[in-house]
Amino acid sequence: MKFFLDTADLAEIEEAASWGALAGVTTNPSLYARIGGKLDDFHDHIKRICDIVDGPVSAESVAMTRDEIIADGRELARIADNVVVKVPTMVEGLAATKVLAAEGIPVNMTLCFTVPQAILAARAGARYISPFIGRFDDISEDGLTQLEQVVTAINNYDFGHDVEIIAASVRSANHVTQAALMGADIATVPFNVLKKCVEHPLTDRGLDAFLKDWEKVQNA
Ligand code: E4P
Repeated sequence: MKFFLDTADLAEIEEAASWGALAGVTTNPSLYARIGGKLDDFHDHIKRICDIVDGPVSAESVAMTRDEIIADGRELARIADNVVVKVPTMVEGLAATKVLAAEGIPVNMTLCFTVPQAILAARAGARYISPFIGRFDDISEDGLTQLEQVVTAINNYDFGHDVEIIAASVRSANHVTQAALMGADIATVPFNVLKKCVEHPLTDRGLDAFLKDWEKVQNA
């Protein structure tokens, strides 16, 4: 499974890239707003992210009609070769995905919650599909089971083009563990979750013991 970072924060992206496991980024105007960004500057910011990341950068269109999504998608795709246009799974999004995909512009269909939505996204030509885990958990439903069903269903078919599943709305290291066990191709994770994936209390305890032993050897 590959790791994408779900952020608009350049410092987080640079730090994760330095760890050697960053395969891509997913972002949107809300994540940019969270770090003080403005919608007017979103496309310039996507360029800044694309310059750092050696991999696909999903940038979400905020448009709601097919024509607007197509126009926005074409504009986003012109920013850099590694831009993927993130489009919501809805009727207008499917119609826009069909056109963008036919033009060779990769699309990540987001806000996907069910198997039929995922299959429709793949049929429309989506290169990536993002089933959400955490938002199911937010309404006391089982997001991991939904993800598992999407992975199984998509892997049942040949859509005539590459389709990768991005486990999205990831809130914990356990979400990452389960997504990997069920064979999701990618997990897009916030930076705090990526850090949790590196850490374990027994690793910390092992390091403490190692440092104490090393001190003893030096003082002997
Ligand atoms: C990524 O593409 C999604 O927008 C993101 O993972 C959603 O996460 P959230 O449910 O925590 O907002």
